Amino acid sequence: MEDIITLGIETSCDETSAAIIKNGRQVLSNVINSQVPIHKRYGGVVPEIASRNHVEAISSVVKEALEQANITFKDIDVVACTYGPGLVGALLVGVSYAKALSYALNKPLVGVNHIQGHIAANYITYEKLEPPFLCLIISGGHTHLVHIKDYTEFEILGKTRDDAIGEAFDKVARVIGLEYPGGPKIDKLAKEGEPNIDLPHTHFENSLDFSFSGIKTAVLNLNHKNPNLNKADLCASFEKVATDMLEENTIEAIKKLGINKLALAGGVSASPYIRQRFKDLGEKNNIEIYYPDLVLCTDNAAMIGVAGYYNYIKGNVSELTLNAEPNLKI
Ligand code: KG4
Ligand code: ZN
Repeated sequence: MEDIITLGIETSCDETSAAIIKNGRQVLSNVINSQVPIHKRYGGVVPEIASRNHVEAISSVVKEALEQANITFKDIDVVACTYGPGLVGALLVGVSYAKALSYALNKPLVGVNHIQGHIAANYITYEKLEPPFLCLIISGGHTHLVHIKDYTEFEILGKTRDDAIGEAFDKVARVIGLEYPGGPKIDKLAKEGEPNIDLPHTHFENSLDFSFSGIKTAVLNLNHKNPNLNKADLCASFEKVATDMLEENTIEAIKKLGINKLALAGGVSASPYIRQRFKDLGEKNNIEIYYPDLVLCTDNAAMIGVAGYYNYIKGNVSELTLNAEPNLKI
C-alpha cells in the first residue's frame, strides 16, 4: 500500500503549528510556534494579536515542518486544518492557507474539529490504542467527557455548563498574581501547599455535566476577602477539588458504559497532579489509563494531522468552501 502523507495545520488559538504525519500515526515533524510570550503581558490571549501573528508565522512554520520531515510540497497527499472551535480570526489563517495549498497542489482538503484533534493525540503516544474508549478532554476552552465509538464517531456524555477547567485555572492564577498560562504555575505552587481550604464541589443529579464557575468564584472571593491566605494552600485545594469533580463524573461514565479504557486529552492533562490522580484511579478500579506525551497535550498540528487522516480514509473530505466555525461542536 502507498504511504499517505498528511500535512496538519493548527491555528485555533495562540499556537501556529504544522506537522507531517505518515500513514496516520507516525509523526515525521511537529513544528509549534507558540505566541505565549507575546500574550503573557496581557494576562491572556488577545484575539487580534493572535491572528496577526499566525499570518506572519504560517508560511515559515509549514516550510520548517516539510524540511524537518525531509519532504517537499509535492509529497503531500492530504491537507488537514483545524476549522473550529476557536478564535475566528485565528482559525481563518489556517483555513485560508490550507485551502490555497489544497487548490494549488490539487490534493484533498480535510477540515478537522479541534477537540477531535486533542483526542487523536493519544493515537500518537499509543500506537496500538483503538476505539472504543472514553476520553476526558480538559483544556483552556473545553471540558468534555466523550465516548469514542470509532475514529470519527463520537458521543458527548457530559460537558461543562459554564467555564472550561483550564479557563478556571487561568483565572485563579491571574487573581493570585501568577502569569498566563496559569495551569502549570498553579500546579507548581500547589505542591508546596496543603488542600486544607473548603471549596464548593458541584455535581448535577442525573447528569455527567461539569461546572467550574462555582469553585472559581469561591477562590476569587476568598482571595479578595483574605489577601493573606496561603496561596500554595489555595492552589492545592483548588486543584484537588477540581480534580475530584473530574474523577466523580468519569467514574460514573465508566460504570454506565462498561468501558475500561480511559484517555485524557487537552492542555490541562499535562498537569502531573491530574495525571497521577487518574493513574491511581485506574489502578484502584482496574481501568487502563492513557494520556498523550506532554507536547501533544497542548495545541499542536500533529494531532490535527492524525484526526485529518482518519477523516480522509472515512471519506470525510471538505470542499474548498470550507469556512472557520468558531463554535463548532464535536
Ligand atoms: O489544549 P490547550 O493548549 O488549548 C485549548 O485548546 O484550550 O490548553 C491550554 C490550557 C490552559 O488553560 C493552561 O493553563 C492549561 O491548558 N495547562 C495546564 C498545564 N499546562 C497547560 N493546566 C494544568 N497543569 C499544566 N501543567
Ligand atoms: Zn486545544
